[in-house]
Amino acid sequence: MNDERAVLSICLTCRDGREAETGTRGGSRLAEAIHSQIGGLAKAGLALRGVKCMSQCKRPCIVSLSQDDKFTYVFGDLDPDEPAHTEALIELVERYNKAPEGFLERRDRPELLRANILGRFPPIRSASPLVLRLDLVAAE
Ligand code: FES
Repeated sequence: MNDERAVLSICLTCRDGREAETGTRGGSRLAEAIHSQIGGLAKAGLALRGVKCMSQCKRPCIVSLSQDDKFTYVFGDLDPDEPAHTEALIELVERYNKAPEGFLERRDRPELLRANILGRFPPIRSASPLVLRLDLVAAE
């Protein structure tokens, strides 16, 4: 995916325990819920992609937000049937697009996306003071 927009990756295979009643996996329903907000997504400057498992299966439903030269975030415990979660993701992207390197403190993220963060990873060439160069060289 060669795109200058932020990319929201959605695990399509996450199970949320409602598969029997809905006939679809929670991850697929989350992707549909997010996709239905396409107007908001376009305004936020966002591309979507689906992923078949993001190795965080115990915290469904899972998404990540990333972009070249920006921090990558991973969030879990998203409810595909809760519109407030979808709205919080759109708000997150709007803030992410405005922040240098996409860096967002906990307080800068929508409240629904504070406690359920699973990871925050700096870009390879990050200028962030959070990243310390260790200059370690593997012994031969
Ligand atoms: S099935 Fe969604 S993270 Fe594994």
